[in-house]
Amino acid sequence: MPTDRRTFLASMLGAVALPALDVLDRTNAGKAARLEADPRRPQYHLLPAANWMNDPNGPVYWDGSYHMFYQYNPDAAVWGDMHWGHAISPDMIHWHHLPVALAPTPGGPDESGCFSGSAVIDGDRVAVVYTGVVAAPETKATLRDGAHSYKETQCLAFGTGKDLSTWTKVPQPVVAAPPAEINVTGFRDPSAWRHGDRWYMTVGSGVRGKHGCVLLYESTDLQHWRYLHMVASGEDVAGQSANPVESGDMWECPELFPLGEKHVLIYSTQGKSFWQSGVLNPETLIFQPEQRGLLDWGAYYAPKTQLDKSGNRILWGWIQETRPVEEYRAAGWAGMMSLPRILTLEDGVLNMQAASEAEALRQRPQNFSSSADEDRNQRQIASMRVKGVCGEILCVTRPGTTTFEFALADSQDDDAHPWLSVRYDPSNPDQTMVDGKPLPVGTTPTGELELHLYLDGSVIELFINRKAAFTKRFYYGGSRAPSAGMRITGQTSLISTLSVWPLTPISRDRLTGVTS
Ligand code: FRU
Repeated sequence: MPTDRRTFLASMLGAVALPALDVLDRTNAGKAARLEADPRRPQYHLLPAANWMNDPNGPVYWDGSYHMFYQYNPDAAVWGDMHWGHAISPDMIHWHHLPVALAPTPGGPDESGCFSGSAVIDGDRVAVVYTGVVAAPETKATLRDGAHSYKETQCLAFGTGKDLSTWTKVPQPVVAAPPAEINVTGFRDPSAWRHGDRWYMTVGSGVRGKHGCVLLYESTDLQHWRYLHMVASGEDVAGQSANPVESGDMWECPELFPLGEKHVLIYSTQGKSFWQSGVLNPETLIFQPEQRGLLDWGAYYAPKTQLDKSGNRILWGWIQETRPVEEYRAAGWAGMMSLPRILTLEDGVLNMQAASEAEALRQRPQNFSSSADEDRNQRQIASMRVKGVCGEILCVTRPGTTTFEFALADSQDDDAHPWLSVRYDPSNPDQTMVDGKPLPVGTTPTGELELHLYLDGSVIELFINRKAAFTKRFYYGGSRAPSAGMRITGQTSLISTLSVWPLTPISRDRLTGVTS
C-alpha cells in the first residue's frame, strides 16, 4: 500500500476519533449538500458519492453494460475496511452507482478486507478473483509494511442477476498460501484470463530484499489453481524498507495482456505504475520484456485494464489525492477514477489517449484561429476559458526552433502560480518538461507537439503526443470553481489547433451518478 495511507494510519493512532462519514444517501442531506457544493469534486470522472476510493477492480463489459468496481471505504474518506464499490455505465463515461458488490465477511478469509482483483466472464456469470485479507501476527502474515500485518489469500466470487447485483462468495480461498519456496513480500491483486481450455492467473508478489515479481497460476475451473512459476520479475532493488512497496521489492496490481503483436505487463510499486512490452514465450510462459516506461508521470496508481465492446484495450487508474490527509478527510471524499484510456503499441512503445466515448461530453468549442500577429493571437488566447474547471483543451503546434510554453492557471489571477505548466525546448528535442519534470517525449517525426488536457474540478489529465501522460491534482480555496485560462509563450502563429470545449457534467450534482 502506498505511503500516504501508511503515514495516515500511523498518525491516526494518537488522533481523536472523528465521526465517520456514512454511506451517502438522500436522507443524509447535510452531507450530500456539502459534497454537492464542493467545487473541487470532479463532474465527469467516476468517484463514489462520498468517502474513500482507491484502485479500479475488475472492470468488465458484460450483458451490454460496463461494470466498474473499486476499492472503497464506506465509512470514511480515508483508506480502510476495503469493500468493492460498484458502478454501471452504458459507455464508460456516464455512471450510475450500484450497491457495494463485495464486503468483508466476518470469520471469512476476507474479514479484514476485500482487496484488489479482476473479473472474467464465465458462461452466464461474472467471476471475480480478489485478495482476501485477515489480520494476522507477523509470523503468519504475507503483508507486512510496518503499519499492517495481514494474511493474504486469493478468493473467488460470482456475480449474477440484472446489473450483477447478486454476489456469491466461494467460502474458502482458492489459493490459500504463496509458493512455500519464496520468501514473499506480499501476495495479492490477482488477474485472470482464459486461453484455450485453461484459466491463467497472475498474482503480485516479490522476493524479500531482492525484487518484485509476478506469480503465474493455472486452472481448469477457476477453483483449483496450480502454481507454475514467476512469469516476470524485476531487477534487484537498491535498499530495503519496512514497506516493500516503498523499496520496490513488492509489485502491486500486475496484469499481463496481449496488445497488437506483443504482450504488455503493467504493475505498480514505489508510488508509480510501469509498463513493459515484450514477448510471452508460448512454450515456457515466461515474459521477456523489450521496452518499458511509466504509465503516467503524476498522481496515478494501481491501474487495471479491460476490453471494451469493440475489443480495444482500456486502461483505468486510481487518481490519488495529493493534499494532506486532514484536508481530504474533512472534505468527505478522496480519490477518483481516471478517464478510460485506449492503449495501443507503436513500434513496441505504449501509446494512450482518452477513449473517444469522452467526446460525447463536448459542447460547442472555442477555436483559435492563428495569424501572423502575435498580439492578436495573445488576445484571442486570453479570451479562451474553461469555465468552472470542467472542460477539454486540445493544442497542436510545431515549435520549430522556438521554445514553447503552455500553462494553465486561474484566469482571474494574473500572478497565480500555474496549476500545470508544460515546456518544450528544441535544444532538448526528445523531452518535454511538465511542472519542471522531464518526460521522455519530444515532437513527432513531423515536428508536432500535441497537448490534450481534461480539466475536472481538481484534476488535469494531460496527454502529450499520446506517448506520455501526466495526471495533476490541484486545489484552490473557496466555494466556487474558478475559470481556467491558458498562458502560452513561444510563436503562437505556429499553433495549428487550439480548441477549448466545455464538457457536460455526468450528473445533476457533484455526486457523480448517485442512485436516485
Ligand atoms: C494498491 C493496493 C493493492 C491492494 C489495495 C488495497 O493501491 O495496495 O495492492 O490490493 O491497494 O486497498
